[in-house]
Amino acid sequence: MEKYYHITTYGCQMNVHESEKIAGILAGLGYHACESIDDADIVVFNTCCIRENAENHAYGNIGMLKKLKAKKKDMIVAVGGCLTQQIGKAETLHKKFPYVDIIFGTHNLNKLGELILKKQNNKKPVIEIEENEGSVCEEDKPLRTSYPNAWINITYGCNNFCSYCIVPYVRGRERSRRSEDIIAEAKSLIGDGYKEITLLGQNVNSYANGTDDISFPELLQRIADIEGKFRLRFMTSHPKDFSEELAKVIAANDKICNNVHLPVQSGSNAVLKAMNRRYTREDYLKKIEILKKYVPDCAVTTDLIVGFPGESEEDFEDTLSLVREVGFSSAFTFVYSKREGTVAARMENQIPEEVSKDRIMRLVELVNANTREQSLQFVGKTVEILCEDYDEKKNLYLGRSEHGRMAYFKSPTNVVGEFLNVRINSANGVSLLGDIVKD
Ligand code: 5AD
Ligand code: SF4
Repeated sequence: MEKYYHITTYGCQMNVHESEKIAGILAGLGYHACESIDDADIVVFNTCCIRENAENHAYGNIGMLKKLKAKKKDMIVAVGGCLTQQIGKAETLHKKFPYVDIIFGTHNLNKLGELILKKQNNKKPVIEIEENEGSVCEEDKPLRTSYPNAWINITYGCNNFCSYCIVPYVRGRERSRRSEDIIAEAKSLIGDGYKEITLLGQNVNSYANGTDDISFPELLQRIADIEGKFRLRFMTSHPKDFSEELAKVIAANDKICNNVHLPVQSGSNAVLKAMNRRYTREDYLKKIEILKKYVPDCAVTTDLIVGFPGESEEDFEDTLSLVREVGFSSAFTFVYSKREGTVAARMENQIPEEVSKDRIMRLVELVNANTREQSLQFVGKTVEILCEDYDEKKNLYLGRSEHGRMAYFKSPTNVVGEFLNVRINSANGVSLLGDIVKD
């Protein structure tokens, strides 16, 4: 009899790719993917704890499984990822949801197969959280679900300890994979027909720091040198480590997309200092200037946080003015979320919710106006789009430009995975609408 798995993923791209690794492990045990949780023999929640709402979202979904689990006693429920890796959270989770069969963390994701076998031979829940990050997990074979895009981890963990951020506590210290392994993986993916490679790390710019391996710009160059037509992206970059050498490599290679995600978090020097970001507003603007000097049409995207402890109205206005000055092509905006164990959680002057709410609304309005304006600049132009998917509801294909703009268009045949020239007729906020241009 066929066995089925269902994975729910919360949080960032890193987690999406880790769910592909979980899927690889489950496929190795003979499970197949299924659309509905109701049909699954094993359900995995790959959680995130970067903000409180991500955590609550997971708790809500795990709670909703109680009824199904009561009906289907043999169904295995596993919870893993960043949430469970936090100190004491596995025990809390077990108490709250005693029907969860397996609890694992970020550091032992690659052992999920063993934990499942253990559970099958054991009545009691299997709760195993590894405290130490160990080395990098080279052996994980992901089951990729995002053709024509493929993600490759180049670093794991983070050494930056931004004062608001839980990531260094749940993902451990920064470790880099060996460049030859990364290049071999990229080569094999391109050979298999993947058209877009995204290199992943919390701070890709510090790749291989302190080792004798090649630098991040050299790694990009080596991958861009692989034969074939494909796009190369990377995320995330920390502004303090963004170098002129990197800007030059982007400029020199057509395959490297003119699209850089450079999270600024705040436009106020006082807040940046309290966040332990280790750059000033001026440093950030200088980096943007260098980037634009070499790559004038580079689309820069960013992350912004409002309501950090002690953020005054003036500080917030500095963020608004920075957003106006840089003209981000789009931005992710967040309300500061207090994370237990971080330095910022112990700071005085936590900002009242209504103040943060007001600020996020004002910020979103500005960011959206910027994004709309930038989308309009594509209208009337012909843009190369990599088709990624088909939207059944809209009856349209969709894909992105190298700048990361989403475009929708019609096609009589399946064009997923193809590079197409699309003439843009209109822009609708963040996305574009156009027609394929035949050459
Ligand atoms: N509160 C709000 N946003 C956060 N981020 C990280 N930690 C927090 C937090 N405690 C945001 C940052 C980061 C992005 C991935 O998530 O903007 O760049
Ligand atoms: Fe968190 Fe800062 Fe590391 Fe990014 S660089 S993961 S925000 S600690």
